[in-house]
Amino acid sequence: MKIPNMIYGTAWKKESTSNLVSEAIKQGFRAIDTACQPKHYREDLVGIGLLKAYERGIKREDLFLQTKFTPIDGQDKNNMPYLSSDEIEIQVEKSFETSKKNLNTNFIDSYILHSPIYDLNKFQKVWQKMEEFYNKNEVGHLGISNCYELNFLKFLYANSKVKPSFVQNRFYSQSGYDREIRIFCKENGIIYQSFWSLTANPHILDSDILKQISLKYNKSVELIFYRFLNHIDIIPLNGTTSINHMIEDLKISDFELSKEEIEAISNLTKR
Ligand SMILES: NC(=O)c1ccc[n+]([C@@H]2O[C@H](COP(=O)([O-])OP(=O)(O)OC[C@H]3O[C@@H](n4cnc5c(N)ncnc54)[C@H](OP(=O)(O)O)[C@@H]3O)[C@@H](O)[C@H]2O)c1
Repeated sequence: MKIPNMIYGTAWKKESTSNLVSEAIKQGFRAIDTACQPKHYREDLVGIGLLKAYERGIKREDLFLQTKFTPIDGQDKNNMPYLSSDEIEIQVEKSFETSKKNLNTNFIDSYILHSPIYDLNKFQKVWQKMEEFYNKNEVGHLGISNCYELNFLKFLYANSKVKPSFVQNRFYSQSGYDREIRIFCKENGIIYQSFWSLTANPHILDSDILKQISLKYNKSVELIFYRFLNHIDIIPLNGTTSINHMIEDLKISDFELSKEEIEAISNLTKR
């Protein structure tokens, strides 16, 4: 399916996850991001939210479902989808099986490695297992998250048979807004997904430039910034818990910023 221009994020929603996922789909979100990482995500309740949407007539093929394999360092050791004593390939297999069960599906549109694994032997075993899912047509795209070192991304790209389709990273000034990573992504057909897009950038949202553009289009500064991200080929994740913000943010495709406006906002990410 076509990759949507904004992805609904489900982290930290706890017991509200199913209602919020159902509501987000009702309002028009068609892409959902989660992870098999009970510490931060209730993937099982994402699945319940999806069932509610299916009851209203939404079909599985209308949705783009993205989940992640979280290596052991990112897990709560008392609540994780595999054993610490399992071989790494078994950990990936168990996590993937749990995700499919939680999400009531045999097909995951996008399967993301939650963070780089710097033991390259282990890393390759994990990626090869992910490639197996892709080759069995159980996964549509592979990706990597929290990858802030260009050399790691280059290693992954050079040493994989199934190349990553996505990099999902924090979009913030401390990483120089991943300028080099994003250039590499563009050159190699990888789509960059951003998180912390609003929360890490209050200085941009509060800038005179954003406020002027917001007045001109009669849209919130938040929506202007999301629109800007789409213009520079970034798909933002959005984990809003507010129905009003869902409705507002989904108007992202209703308007276009001018070249000069895109340039002016881009300059704010170069400081
Ligand atoms: N790969 C990773 O390691 C990783 C890490 C973090 C997050 N993520 C993913 O990214 C998703 C998004 O997380 P995030 O950290 O970017 O933050 P977020 O959950 O999207 O939070 C954004 C904040 O912006 C607010 N907001 C949204 N639309 C708004 C609007 N139109 N006007 C004003 N405020 C608005 C929300 O408040 P309201 O609730 O009041 O709208 C919320 O406080 C997560 O759910 C998760 O799926 C992935």
